[in-house]
Amino acid sequence: MSEKRELLTSTALGMCCSRRQLLRGALLAALAPSLGALLSACGSGAAVPTPTVAAPAATPTPPAATPTPAAAASPTVAATPTGQAAAGEPVRIGVLLPYSGVYTALGENITRGLELYLEEIGYQAGGRTIEVYKEDDAANPEVGLTKARQLVERDRVHLLAGIVHSGVATALRDFVDSQQIPLVIANAGAAPLTRDPAQRSPYIFRVSFANGQYEWPLGPYAHDSLGYARVAVTAPDYSAGHEKANAFKAAFQKAGGQIVDEVYPPLDTADFGPFLQRLQQAQVDAVWAFFAGADAVRFVQQYNDFGLKDQFPLIGAGDLVDEAYLGQQGDAALDVVTSLHYTPQYDSPENQAFVQRFREKHGQVPNQFAYQGYLCARVIAEALNAVEGQVEDREAFLSALKQVQFTGPTGEFRFHPETQNVVLTVFFRKVERLADGSLGNVVLDKVEGIDDLSF
Ligand code: PHB
Repeated sequence: MSEKRELLTSTALGMCCSRRQLLRGALLAALAPSLGALLSACGSGAAVPTPTVAAPAATPTPPAATPTPAAAASPTVAATPTGQAAAGEPVRIGVLLPYSGVYTALGENITRGLELYLEEIGYQAGGRTIEVYKEDDAANPEVGLTKARQLVERDRVHLLAGIVHSGVATALRDFVDSQQIPLVIANAGAAPLTRDPAQRSPYIFRVSFANGQYEWPLGPYAHDSLGYARVAVTAPDYSAGHEKANAFKAAFQKAGGQIVDEVYPPLDTADFGPFLQRLQQAQVDAVWAFFAGADAVRFVQQYNDFGLKDQFPLIGAGDLVDEAYLGQQGDAALDVVTSLHYTPQYDSPENQAFVQRFREKHGQVPNQFAYQGYLCARVIAEALNAVEGQVEDREAFLSALKQVQFTGPTGEFRFHPETQNVVLTVFFRKVERLADGSLGNVVLDKVEGIDDLSF
């Protein structure tokens, strides 16, 4: 038992700390059942944030920034699961996410969702083993591009997945397009990548959202259903913040509402004081906000500490009151109304099964990012199945990706045929105290079939 505990702990730490990790899919497939049993037996799901099985103890993954090319180019797979289809070399997926910086929690939760699905399928699809190479992009475009090059040129990944920060996704656009590397985006909402015909690429798919896609429906909802006429908006001062705010603003104004003020603090703001002071001066019915990760925790807490919550109800993008930090935000998050394409409270059989499996593994409900990671892995696996593992046949693989369709946790999953961006069900949610005493985003209403050309 103590040996296994040690493995879990060191792996959890490794996920956050090491800059390059090769997940040995076969080993994971062999260990996954005992890990699940161990977690529930020890009741330690909550205590171990990221129970990822990485390299075996005998051959630890070097934490070095630049592992030797030879070692990287020919990873040794330690174990072969019984029944593995001997169909040549593994399919290698390069996963690029922030495991450091303001968006660390997002990267970790996307990874959890992605790995949960891969474990469910035993790291096998289309008759081939799947290997995952993880890199920390630190939510930094320059770092992201460098790491993407390493994954493609050094590790010879067949496709890339992940990406949280819009700037990183934008920085990768020309690279994946010219190198003909499929990229399945699991978060970054940079809208032009799928909405702008000049920016689109046949190699880029997005399972998460385009910025604005789930924000705009809150415009008419805030005006017509919540009865707000005057609203101020606030978001981080980079492309994603502006895209999200712009979509809400346009839809709110179209519904007859007035935008009274706009406040854009820098990304990763520790002290929102000056910005809250400015919001305080605007006489509004409500404040609309988008912040994510560490920014969301601080903003919601400071909005409450400043006394603003009692003056102006807080509404916004669901990222603001994500399940990963509702506990930290506490009562400061109560009653916040947001729009988002996910909530673990949605009562469909597929979602409740997903929530239960995630909860068994991690001791907590999945959030939007875990959901996006899960979709990302499933979409890739479904396409691999459709081409019987022939990921090297790029035309066939891209065409299979385009056609992926299944009933997922929030209903029918499909890509828009023109934009290759997911079509969403958007939920209007409110933070309430649940029967078990925890906080949750309960569903007020939903709209279906929202694509990224609808705004
Ligand atoms: C983005 O940069 O597109 C982005 C980042 C964090 C989010 C949503 C979108 O929660």
